[in-house]
Amino acid sequence: MTKIFGHRGSAGTHPENTMISFQQAFCDGADGIELDVQLSKDGIPVVIHDEKVDRTTDGKGLVKDFTLKELKQLNAVYKFKKLYSHAEIPTLEEVLDWAARKQTLVNIELKNSIIPYSGMEEKVLELILKYDVENLVIFSSFNHFSIARLHTLSPSIEKAVLYMEGINKPWDYTKWVGAQGIHPYIKAATPTIIQRSKENGVPVRPFTVNDEKTMLRLFKAECAGFFTDYPKRAVLIKQ
Ligand code: G3P
Ligand code: CA
Repeated sequence: MTKIFGHRGSAGTHPENTMISFQQAFCDGADGIELDVQLSKDGIPVVIHDEKVDRTTDGKGLVKDFTLKELKQLNAVYKFKKLYSHAEIPTLEEVLDWAARKQTLVNIELKNSIIPYSGMEEKVLELILKYDVENLVIFSSFNHFSIARLHTLSPSIEKAVLYMEGINKPWDYTKWVGAQGIHPYIKAATPTIIQRSKENGVPVRPFTVNDEKTMLRLFKAECAGFFTDYPKRAVLIKQ
């Protein structure tokens, strides 16, 4: 059955990558959430998409130059100021604690393609063990060296390669990297790619799918899942 993942929570209607957005995706009926992880100056895994805080908070500068205490002082309500007065940047630990209690799926995207955060994989795996959420988590990254490193550290935890386009036979490639699934940009998720991947036992979860027509196509193809900014819309179509 096709799983619906709230992309950065319910990012189409709520402040992305905040607890508000994750709780909304859960209330909307999503099977899981997707989030982006980086490291603070003091090495804490925090949940934010861009390398800079500028777009989604009232601060300026690189995430890696802020301590956790400083990041917590920023307001991450982003463009939803009329709906909310304040939202914090969550730590990954806060989200995993919540996900463990809700038993909801979490796709953890390691944002380490531009800034190669040293030791990130170990720190995130440590939290997964602490909250006993190995069966709820799928790792992904555009940095396939990081996925290979995760495979060395934890062969059993589920992983997927993220990509925009241009991977030949991605169902073979992902196994070669040490992952199980593929998370392609939706335009690269052709019917052939979905079908051949299924035949090879490789789950496909495209991103980011916000229109109803494409959602329907993926449900009909029995795609493993997809990421959407509007999980409520996807849940309504699935019924
Ligand atoms: O994980 C799917 C998707 O989130 C990857 O792209 O830029 O939205 O993080 P982006
Ligand atoms: Ca992401």
